[in-house]
Amino acid sequence: MSQPTLLQHDRDAAARQAERTRIARELHDDLGGNLIAIKMALARLAARVPADQPGLAGQAGYIDELVDRTIETVHRISFGLRASALDVGLAGALAWQANEFARQTGVIVITHCTDLLTPEPAPEHAAALFHIAQEALTNVAKHARATQVTLTLEHDGGELTLAICDNGCGIDPAARTRPHAFGLRGMHERASALGGVLSLSPAPGGGTMLTVKTRLAPSVAPAQNKKQNE
Ligand SMILES: Nc1ncnc2c1ncn2[C@@H]1O[C@H](COP(=O)(O)OP(=O)(O)OP(=O)(O)O)[C@@H](O)[C@H]1O
Ligand SMILES: [Mg+2]
Repeated sequence: MSQPTLLQHDRDAAARQAERTRIARELHDDLGGNLIAIKMALARLAARVPADQPGLAGQAGYIDELVDRTIETVHRISFGLRASALDVGLAGALAWQANEFARQTGVIVITHCTDLLTPEPAPEHAAALFHIAQEALTNVAKHARATQVTLTLEHDGGELTLAICDNGCGIDPAARTRPHAFGLRGMHERASALGGVLSLSPAPGGGTMLTVKTRLAPSVAPAQNKKQNE
């Protein structure tokens, strides 16, 4: 059986994650919304329980408690589904994030992942890089006025390079050190925690290029990314 192409792998991974996210959204919005409506209707009903019916008031209190617990469960399950973007591996998670970003903002995103990551980076390593990419994309949406973003993940000789390059207005040097801007600071901190380096530079033709270089620290657990063993 031939290996799937990288593009196909990314597409499958992105499609799986998109489906999990859809279920999470429906659980949260639909089921969660109905539970809130039940809670409010119950409160209206409970307010009409006559004072000489303490048993009924107690029942209403019990139902209200059950609804609260169910709301909490729905939140927990939908958060779990969303938080698992990295289940599909770093390259797949980035591809999914890039698709989401393009869908939400209308900005064209070109994704280059030159290699399937074998082994996958350790989960916290992958999570840090994923969060850096998320904040970089958020910054593009908030500040860059870009029409196109290129997201690249390269693996070369044990070194991982993540680059996010936009064709927007470029970063004003003074803006980088704004005291209340935590995004860039957080990204630098995440990169150094991995023993890596984050740099910002003008992109060719305008815009901003954000690059993170770090060693690939493989997961101790067996790689989660799909190996075709059959
Ligand atoms: N891709 C980009 N293009 C243009 N300007 C940018 C870009 N990324 C960041 N900046 C500039 O750098 C500043 C600092 O970014 P940073 O992410 O630290 O803060 P923020 O996005 O303003 O706020 P926060 O991330 O704390 O919500 C931004 O306010 C913006 O002026
Ligand atoms: Mg920011």
